[in-house]
Amino acid sequence: MADARTRNRYFDDLASTPDLAWMGQNTNHVPAHPAVTEAMIRSIEAGEFNAYAPPMGFEALRSAIVDDLGTPGAEALVTEGGVNALAMICKARARPGTTLVTTDPTWKWPCMFAEQAGAEVIQIPIYDPATAYKLTPEALKSAVDERCAIIYIVDPNNPLGIRYERREIEAFAEIARSVGALLIHDCTYRDFADGHTPVLQVAPEGTVVSLSFSKWLGLAGLRIGGLVAEPKLIDEFSAASTSVLGASVIAQRAAMAGLAVKPEWMTQVRKIDRVNKDMIVKAAEAAGMPVPVNPSHGNFLIIETASTGVAPEAIVEAARREGVMIRQGRYHTARFGDRFIKVSTSVPTEWAERFCEGLPRYVETARGLNDVPALF
Ligand SMILES: Cc1ncc(COP(=O)(O)O)c(C=O)c1O
Repeated sequence: MADARTRNRYFDDLASTPDLAWMGQNTNHVPAHPAVTEAMIRSIEAGEFNAYAPPMGFEALRSAIVDDLGTPGAEALVTEGGVNALAMICKARARPGTTLVTTDPTWKWPCMFAEQAGAEVIQIPIYDPATAYKLTPEALKSAVDERCAIIYIVDPNNPLGIRYERREIEAFAEIARSVGALLIHDCTYRDFADGHTPVLQVAPEGTVVSLSFSKWLGLAGLRIGGLVAEPKLIDEFSAASTSVLGASVIAQRAAMAGLAVKPEWMTQVRKIDRVNKDMIVKAAEAAGMPVPVNPSHGNFLIIETASTGVAPEAIVEAARREGVMIRQGRYHTARFGDRFIKVSTSVPTEWAERFCEGLPRYVETARGLNDVPALF
C-alpha cells in the first residue's frame, strides 16, 4: 500500500536523521540505567536470544509486573509492546454489532483494531475546559448500551495529560459492569502521574490493565509491554494471541532489571521530565501559545496553536527541518487536531532547550510553508 510505504519512509528518515531530538512519540531518552544495559548485554552474551521465550512471558517477569501494579490475585501476560496487548483484547472481544467506547482524543490504534473486527467505535469528546479535559461518568453512561463490548480509557490520557481520581475509575468500572462491557484501563503513562489508581485495585473482575515498558523504562524499540487481569480473562485473551512464540528475551531481561531499580530510576526520570516541562511551558507561553493541561500527568505536553494562525502540521514540519520531532494534534484526533501540537518531555534537557529556543522560529517558518508533506 502506497500509504504504508510513505509512512515507513517518514519514520525511516527520522531514524536516520543525525542528532534528531525525538520529542513526538512520548518515548524516553534519558540514558538507560546501567543495570538495564547490563542485563541486556548479559542476555546477548549468553546467547539467550537463540531460544524462544515462554509464550506468556518469563514467570519472574509476570509476577514482578503484578507486584509493581499492586494487584495481588491478578495475572500478567507479557506482549510485544502495549499495542499488542490492546490488539489481542480487541481481537477477543470486538465483533460486528458491538461497540468500543472511548474518548476523543484517545490513543487511536485500539479503535482501528476494533473496527477491523467489525465493531463500531464511539468517541466521547473531552477537549473541554468545562470538564477539566476529562471524561465524566455521565457522558460515559449516555454513550454505552448493551451493544458495548469494550470501554477503553487511557489514563493518563495521551495526548491531554489528564488523569482520573479513584472515584472516577470506580464510576467507570460500575458503568462497564452495568452493561456487561470489558473496561480496558490503558495505564501506559501511569508512572509519570501524581497519584494513580489502576482499575484492578477497585474492580478486579471484568477489567483489564494494559501496560508498556516503552515510556517509563525507555524500551520502545525493544517492543515490550503487557496486560494484567483476573486469570479467567488472561485465559480468554491468550487464546486470541497471535504472539504464540512469546516476546523478545532480551527485552524481558531489560524489563526485569528495570522493575528492580524502578524507584531510583523514576525519581531521576521524573526530575528531568519536570525541569523540561517547566521550561517548555514558559517558552510556549512566551510565544503566546497556551498549555491547557498543566501539570500534565504524562511525559508530554500539548501546546495550543490557534494564536499563531498556522496549522499544527506546518509547525511540526518546520521543527522537523531543524531536527526536532514533535507531533501534530491530528495524529490523535480529527475533531480537535487543528488546535495543538504535542511535545514529549522525558528527554535530555538539551533537547528541551533546543525546542524552546526554536519554537518562535518554527512558527515563523511555518507561515511560509504552503506544501506540508504527509505526517504520521
Ligand atoms: C496510550 C498508549 N497506549 C499504548 C501505547 C503502546 O505502547 P507500546 O506498544 O510501545 O508498549 C502507547 C504508545 O504510544 C500509548 O500512547
